[in-house]
Amino acid sequence: MDFLNNLVIPATTQHLNLLKIILVLAMMIFLPFFGMIFGGTAFSMIFNAYGRKNNKPLFIRFAKDIIDKLAINRFVGVGLGVIPLLAITFCYAQLMFEVQVISVSLLFVATLFMALAVNFVYSFQNTFQIELLIETFKNISGLKKHELETKIPEDISDYEFDLKNTNSNSGLYAFVLLLLTAIFFAGGTSIALFSDRYQDFQNIAQMFLSGATFLNFLFIIVLSITVTGSAILFFFFSWQGGLHDMDVEYSNFAKKIAGNIAFTGAAILPVFLFLSFIMMPNVALSGSVFIYTGLAFVSILIICNFLYAVIKNSEMKYIGAAFYLLILAFGFIIMKNQTAFGTASYKNLAAINIRAEEIEKEKKGKTINTAGVNGEEIFTRICSACHKFDAKLVGPPYNETVPTFNGDVKKLSAWIQSPTKVFPDYPAMPNPGLKPKEADAVAKYLIDKVSGGK
Ligand code: HEC
Repeated sequence: MDFLNNLVIPATTQHLNLLKIILVLAMMIFLPFFGMIFGGTAFSMIFNAYGRKNNKPLFIRFAKDIIDKLAINRFVGVGLGVIPLLAITFCYAQLMFEVQVISVSLLFVATLFMALAVNFVYSFQNTFQIELLIETFKNISGLKKHELETKIPEDISDYEFDLKNTNSNSGLYAFVLLLLTAIFFAGGTSIALFSDRYQDFQNIAQMFLSGATFLNFLFIIVLSITVTGSAILFFFFSWQGGLHDMDVEYSNFAKKIAGNIAFTGAAILPVFLFLSFIMMPNVALSGSVFIYTGLAFVSILIICNFLYAVIKNSEMKYIGAAFYLLILAFGFIIMKNQTAFGTASYKNLAAINIRAEEIEKEKKGKTINTAGVNGEEIFTRICSACHKFDAKLVGPPYNETVPTFNGDVKKLSAWIQSPTKVFPDYPAMPNPGLKPKEADAVAKYLIDKVSGGK
């Protein structure tokens, strides 16, 4: 992705630190939402297929409610899914400036997949709603089942048929695209940690060979399962009082399935947390990585307890706690990954800072070409009539005024070429009528002289 490299400029250490904060925030938005939309699509697709095949309306209804509640709407999909991932890609592009490795390209591809996936997710969601609309009209039409078959115009039954196809197809496309997003995201972020082996990761095929990518991909799957189960519980039973149109049968059904999904995910999660910790390259390890892993571990154990109370004893009050604690666990996991990335890339970050400072200096030096013009001569011939360095004459002393330009020759030169009124206790300075090159020369002379004199 050469164009990405052209877009980014080397940043100074302060900017790099700011980027790290933005990266963590973008991850905090992206990862939980991605888990919800990914797991939500997968489970909704599975329950939908199962329900249609075995003619079980409860499953179809569950499938519809899951994708409705977890994916929310297209606007949210772009805002919490696509845009944060794009931000993450740009942060990595900045933090890995001029590093020859495929991480940033992989993240960029992940963003493209995500953008496509979001499209299909919401047409999947949409077709459910249209079907429901048709169902509702059938019900209020007061017609009996056999009457419906003869009385509904063929066009409409054709449309209904198409709609069912679109529904299952878009669900499948969305799922596959989200799966690809997860693979490329896992690849981009895990390869970034191997700062001592970047030369081994130069093309996409090498990503598939990396064990760390595979492990992190599985980690994302398990995270998605956990957050999806917890989110179903949360949005069905806790958030704003939960769903209102649930009868007892449906409510028990939803609680049982979602509870089991969440608990299974949460119970496997520690294994992956542990594996991803021991698979981490040495260049990325530090005390903080250890601490964040521990904190994530403890929160997941508590989540397991909460979820167990929900499944076994129907203690619904723990649903909210489990969900919020899970978001906190996401925070710890993200902090663990990002501190690891910071440790792995600290040499590169230092190099970027040096590059940034060099460029800054080059910029100041390069644009000023004073060859053949003598700044000192101009000063003595013109300016010294009104200016001294250390004392007031007609104009203010240079030692007081020149430092306010912060060594910026261009800025001082521009002012000399068209002076504006500055100090109330001095008259305005007449335009000395210098050519740009002459103004540059005298500006440079003044700046060198003032900073050298100190
Ligand atoms: C005729 C007198 C006169 C001459 C000649 C003159 N200046 Fe000035 N200069 C002034 C006065 C008066 C001020 C204060 C202007 C104000 O406060 O608006 C001033 C202000 C300045 C300042 C301060 C600007 C700021 O924003 O702090 C600089 C720098 C300066 N002059 C540079 C020069 C240079 C370089 C030359 C020669 C090319 C020059 N001046 C020639 C009278 C002069």
